[in-house]
Amino acid sequence: MTANGPGRLPADFDWGVATSAYQIEGASDADGRTPSVWDTFAAEPGRIAGGDLADPGCDHYHRWRDDLDLLAGLGVHSYRFSISWSRVIPGGRGTGNPRGLAFYDRLVDALLAAGIDPVIALFHWDLPQDLQDAGGWTARDTAYAFADYALEIGTALADRVSRWATMNEPFEHFALGHVIGLHAPGQTLTGDEAFSVAHHLLLGHGLAAQALRTTGARQVGLINSYAPVRPASTDPADGPAVSALDAIQNRLFTDPVLLGGYPAGLEAFGMDPHGALVRPGDLQEIATPLDYLGVNYYTVLGAGAPQDGDPLPFRLTDPPGYEHTASGWPVAPVGMRDTLQMLRERYQQALPPLYVTETGAAYDDKPDAEDFCDDTERIAFLSAHVAAVADAVEAGVDVRGLMVWSLLDNFEWAEGFAKRFGLVQVNFETAKRTPKASYQWYRDLIKQQSEAT
Ligand code: NOJ
Repeated sequence: MTANGPGRLPADFDWGVATSAYQIEGASDADGRTPSVWDTFAAEPGRIAGGDLADPGCDHYHRWRDDLDLLAGLGVHSYRFSISWSRVIPGGRGTGNPRGLAFYDRLVDALLAAGIDPVIALFHWDLPQDLQDAGGWTARDTAYAFADYALEIGTALADRVSRWATMNEPFEHFALGHVIGLHAPGQTLTGDEAFSVAHHLLLGHGLAAQALRTTGARQVGLINSYAPVRPASTDPADGPAVSALDAIQNRLFTDPVLLGGYPAGLEAFGMDPHGALVRPGDLQEIATPLDYLGVNYYTVLGAGAPQDGDPLPFRLTDPPGYEHTASGWPVAPVGMRDTLQMLRERYQQALPPLYVTETGAAYDDKPDAEDFCDDTERIAFLSAHVAAVADAVEAGVDVRGLMVWSLLDNFEWAEGFAKRFGLVQVNFETAKRTPKASYQWYRDLIKQQSEAT
């Protein structure tokens, strides 16, 4: 048996792929959709590499049947996508939009007919612009609007959807979108204002999880990203920097959900989890029990002591000794195993079953004359990360499935279309899809793993 050969993961392990609405749909004003923060942000000069716009991009809204064929050909058991809030409730509040909802309704039915379990994330960073204009996630009301939206979608789809995530990577949305300003809505908040975004995202998660459950939704969870933090050097002064980055990256959106309280160390970021923003009862709402926790894993981070004038209590460093993907991220499969084991050790009995809800890599694929990409680097990346999940499972961590990011090359946020993560190459001039070598590799892996006993 090879390190990543068939049989190391259970035969009922759930294999899938993931996408998100804004990254693949295009059709930004079709059928009554209103703008999201990403439409506004991407239209501002200098925000997105190359000035790329997500519309038409993959144009999945009009080409979803082709994408369904690609999913069926891959043989995945499940497919994760997100819902565009502004498509189904234009403006974010009030009456649902039947034409927007019909798109997801058809998609869910077609997935089920193809034998693929739909997995839905309600929020993958594309807040309706009208809600942003009313304060976005700094406003407590946004958490309640999110719960109303969850109720609407759950009522429409809960009878047919296998697994739900309230949100995808709230930490990245908080940090990149509201503190560093590299993502929509492009804010650079500090102190209590920054903390209000984190707290209201968490409150929104808890309220939405409860709202979903009232509609009969099965398997309600949250998807977070995790990255082990390595010290920049052997200097003990790096220790507090490692703890600070770990607290914010790995604990801020997990401790309140699984342990019922904010982690220590937020004060170093000027955030006060004991102030008036956290109202009585909020922590109980946030700690609504989960059916599973989604884990997105890509890389490890390095942290060193901050230098004079640094606004944060750590300096991000490039941990030595790793190769890098085209995103510049260290390739560290061992970090996948470490992350899964860390979660088990840190949260123990409070940890629900895990699903790896994203892993994958951008590489500079070189399509041939037929648009075929022989992406051996991506295959090596995925193969090593699958093996690392198998290591964690063998060490006793309850991991039930894995999803590759992503089915298609797509709009990689501030990086535009230049960073390609797909198992399928997309020609953004024509929207033509061409499966890469990694698509064939993953198809064969799923087949072998599912047949192994
Ligand atoms: C995580 C995010 O969920 C997804 O939107 C993004 O494209 C991938 N990471 C790759 O950066």
